[in-house]
Order: sequence, then C-alpha cells, then structure tokens
Amino acid sequence: MVRHSVAVLFWFACLSWLCAGCDYARMTTDEGYDTYETHMPVMSMGAIATGGTLSTLRMMGAEALANPLHPTPPVLAQGRQAYGYFCTHCHGPRGEGHGTVGQSFAPLPTNLASERVQRQSDADLFFKIGFGFNRHPDLSHTMLENDIWAVIHYLRRMQGQ
Ligand code: HEC
Repeated sequence: MVRHSVAVLFWFACLSWLCAGCDYARMTTDEGYDTYETHMPVMSMGAIATGGTLSTLRMMGAEALANPLHPTPPVLAQGRQAYGYFCTHCHGPRGEGHGTVGQSFAPLPTNLASERVQRQSDADLFFKIGFGFNRHPDLSHTMLENDIWAVIHYLRRMQGQ
C-alpha cells in the first residue's frame, strides 16, 4: 500500500513538473485568428528597397559603363582587401584559380591573370563579377559597387601562377 502511494506521489510530482512551464491561461486571453479571418497589414510603398545603384547599372548595360575609379594606391588597397573578402576562397590568393571553395566548381575558377580575363574591358568584367554568369555567383547583393570597380583595378595587376 505504501509502495503504491509513493508511486502515485512520484507520478504526480513528475506531472506537476512537466506542466510547470505551461501557461494555458494565457492562451485563452491571447488574441488569435483563424486562417484568412483577418487582412494582412498593407505595407507602404517603398518600404522595401527594390532599386539600387547596381540594379540601375544592370539595366544600363555594360556598354554604358566605365570604371569611375583610378588605380591610385588607396583604390588598389581597397581592391586588394575586397579581393581577400570576396574572391580568394574561389580564385586563390594570387588569382590563379586555386581557392579551396573554387575546387568544387566545374569549370574551375578562371585564372584572373590570363589573357582571356585581362583583354576584357572593366565594364565587361564588372558585369560578370557583379551579376554572375554560368556558374559564377552574382555578387551584386554582397559587394558594394565601388568595391567591384576597385577589385577590377587590383586584378589588372595580378600575376597569377
Ligand atoms: C563561389 C566561387 C567564386 C567566387 C566567390 C568568385 N568567383 Fe570568379 N569564377 C568562379 C568560377 C567557377 C569561374 C569560372 C566560371 C565559368 O567559366 O563558367 C569564375 C570566373 C571568373 C572570371 C572570368 C570571366 C570570364 O570572362 O571568363 C572573372 C574575371 C572572375 N571570376 C572574377 C572574380 C572576382 C574578381 C571575384 C571576387 C569579387 C570572384 N570572381 C568571385 C568562381 C568564383
């Protein structure tokens, strides 16, 4: 009999402990809606940015673009830093295409010192880097416009390997 009471007490204690965190009372007073019972709040126009400089540039097309930066030492330093943040993991520290992440791509990341890259205009490179092509990531949501232009100046000076 005693053993039975202890067992009942034990289960009662367990149940109280489990329910201790449940605040069922709150659920009866909280405001609640069934699906489609109420209208969703209407967002004011312009609350979400849909047009920025980069998407405007995209509409203009590569022919209308020119690198607004000059390859001064601060711009090259900015390009080098941005390259370290956004390109090294795929293209490798010297741009040769040996970055660790890039090795899982087919085709492999292009050698940035190659003739194929170097003969292209800044604007064409801006478009490819900024908006992506083939398997290339679209970096327009990740990088600032000026960082892309600065990276292009920097990769003009890459030696590859
Ligand atoms: C996630 C990996 C990845 C990142 C990050 C990346 N690239 Fe690439 N890149 C590639 C791959 C893969 C290719 C080859 C794509 C192809 O030819 O289809 C490539 C090709 C290129 C090309 C060759 C363009 C051409 O005409 O063939 C350039 C230039 C380039 N990348 C520049 C950059 C720069 C600069 C950055 C950093 C701002 C960068 N990439 C970031 C993977 C990457």
